Amino acid sequence: IGRGMDRAAVVKVGAAASASVCALFGGVALAQYIVAKKKRAGKKTRIIEMMPQFEKSTVHMKDPERVEQIICGLIKGGATKLQIITDFDMTLSKFQVNGKRCPTCHNIIDYSQLVTDECRQKLVQLKNQYYPIEIDPQLTMEEKYPFMVEWYFKSHSLLVEQRLQKNKLPEAVRESDAALRDGYEQFFERLQHHNVPVFIFSAGLGDVLEEILRLAGVYLPNIKVVSNFMDFDDNGVIRGFKGELIHVYNKHDGALRNTEYFKQLKENCNIVLMGDSLGDLSMADGVPNVENLLKIGFLNDKVEECLDKYLDNYDIVLVRDETLEVPNAILQKVL
Ligand code: TMP
Ligand code: MG
Repeated sequence: IGRGMDRAAVVKVGAAASASVCALFGGVALAQYIVAKKKRAGKKTRIIEMMPQFEKSTVHMKDPERVEQIICGLIKGGATKLQIITDFDMTLSKFQVNGKRCPTCHNIIDYSQLVTDECRQKLVQLKNQYYPIEIDPQLTMEEKYPFMVEWYFKSHSLLVEQRLQKNKLPEAVRESDAALRDGYEQFFERLQHHNVPVFIFSAGLGDVLEEILRLAGVYLPNIKVVSNFMDFDDNGVIRGFKGELIHVYNKHDGALRNTEYFKQLKENCNIVLMGDSLGDLSMADGVPNVENLLKIGFLNDKVEECLDKYLDNYDIVLVRDETLEVPNAILQKVL
């Protein structure tokens, strides 16, 4: 391009250049638009991305695609195919409120007026000795098992020694700091409204657990509680415990011991399982005819040490989440 080039030619070259720059930018913009649109379109088809509750920092999943698939299966099956199997202590009940630990069913008795100070001391000692074993990430469930049996045996023997009275339990629960996770009203009411069976499988104390549900106004007819129930004499004084002991790590034979219940529910082949301990994972073992099983785990304590293991075993892990927001969001989609 020299001096010889006339004005018109320069204008032409300039126009062509700017046109190609426009085309280039246009192309980039178009490509970006297509990618964005695809992303949006992709988002719209994924159920877990349509639930804002899944964006909370408490929600952890190893395989969101799998969670997506299971939830799709649950939605397809709807209310008639659904059943809930859930732990109680630290799963339906809160682990802590404002940094202060909440009681388990046992702890409600431990800290009540129903036991002497001396007994309370012993119960607290037992808790300090055995709870660290219960949650020790270095020990296997098999290794923990005998210690749990020991803990329950000693603790239940102390309760029998104290001659607990049945009619004093409601007051002990009323005066305790027991709390159900935020959103429990919606959780139980929705399940009751759609007639979804709820199996509460607890290694806690059944009599105390029932009283907590009653007091909260959610002991509804679709709920079945399987737990350690006290055996009272004619005067309403404890003389032992009914049936076989349920502790944290023998929940795998729950379905076996409740065959009648699960036989009746053989059409309810979609299960939402909720727990806070690795022992709770086996609560649905032996349930006949399972199609979709969604495992939701609450990780409350020793989070850093346990997260990987929980992620390997629970489909959704809720870390230090004191609410039922995620289960409620899922149930809202299914029901
Ligand atoms: P869960 O199966 O409903 O979670 O209840 C079992 C919990 O109860 C488990 O975390 C151990 C706890 N526990 C006590 O807090 N105090 C006791 O004396 C015993 C035997 C168990
Ligand atoms: Mg528990």
